[in-house]
Amino acid sequence: MRVLSGIQPSGQLHWGNYFGSMKPNLDLVSPQCENFFFIADLHALTSLRDHKALEAARREIVRDYLAVGFDPDRAIIYEQSAIPEHTELQWILATITPMGLLERAVSYKDKVQRGLPATAGLFTYPVLMAADILLYQADVVPVGSDQKQHVEMTRDIATKFNNAYGKTFTLPEPRIHKTVAVVPGTNGQKMSKSYGNTIPLFGDEKVIRKAIMGIVTDSKGAAASKNPDACTIFKLHSLFLTKGEIATLADAYRHGLSYGDAKNRLFDAAMDFFGPMRKRRSELKDADVRAVLAEGTRKAGRIASATMEQVRACVGLKKSY
Ligand code: ADP
Ligand code: TRP
Repeated sequence: MRVLSGIQPSGQLHWGNYFGSMKPNLDLVSPQCENFFFIADLHALTSLRDHKALEAARREIVRDYLAVGFDPDRAIIYEQSAIPEHTELQWILATITPMGLLERAVSYKDKVQRGLPATAGLFTYPVLMAADILLYQADVVPVGSDQKQHVEMTRDIATKFNNAYGKTFTLPEPRIHKTVAVVPGTNGQKMSKSYGNTIPLFGDEKVIRKAIMGIVTDSKGAAASKNPDACTIFKLHSLFLTKGEIATLADAYRHGLSYGDAKNRLFDAAMDFFGPMRKRRSELKDADVRAVLAEGTRKAGRIASATMEQVRACVGLKKSY
């Protein structure tokens, strides 16, 4: 079974990305599956126009993924822009994709509403995503619920192609992460880089401490009993704990744990949890990262090129020399 997923390099990763996307993806890596994991850097161009920022984000995100435990021996790791077949297939798929299908995409409307430029690239984003998936004949695509519609559109596009040219593509199944629902940010809203309420996954300890100390709480006195279920510190701390530990911590809140102490405990728990990953990240050499990408690109490129040869033959574009 082939499992494929991608992530856009569009800024520093945060706890929401780890618990909502990286961890569930990691949990799906298994010896029974062929795992493909790629950096969707062409997609990132729809929202990031600063070339230095994009270069930096691409570099950092591969390190982040290797640090949290993606194992290049078990997953093919590569960058979308390194494999030209993604955009070649995108064009061919675009010629059979009905406009009406793209017009129904919720994510396009959301993004334009949030201020992203309404470009042809943003509008045809789901077609590139379909190419990302179909090029590798993926069976399963683990995604957050925000991306489910895109995987369904991929199935529609693959079906159109198969009907027009004969069975070529596997229809992928979306697998929606059973996440800890939504990870709250420091102000209690969904943690998101667009809301400026994130706690970074990696980076300077001082910055992480400052973000944690800035978590918004009510104004209950230090010794007053607190309701853990209404507290963002508690919700975040629970991400790092077992069921039993969560119950013990909830008791401490009810018995009057001060918010200052609660934040210190959260900081310590996060450092314990992410400590080994931070260490691994600091030990990664640039050459190691480059080697992982080179190997991943070679493996993925071979599959992409075989699929494209088949697709070209189907549509009448087989190389004639
Ligand atoms: P951001 O909201 O910071 O721009 P992205 O949209 O780039 O984050 O997130 C990439 C993936 O990380 C999403 O598809 C989603 O699965 C996951 N994710 C992001 N923020 C959260 C959150 N607060 N809680 C749970 N999952 C999240
Ligand atoms: N659109 C996805 C996101 O923003 C990233 C992505 C691009 C992707 N191509 C993909 C995810 C193919 C899964 C499969 O999160």
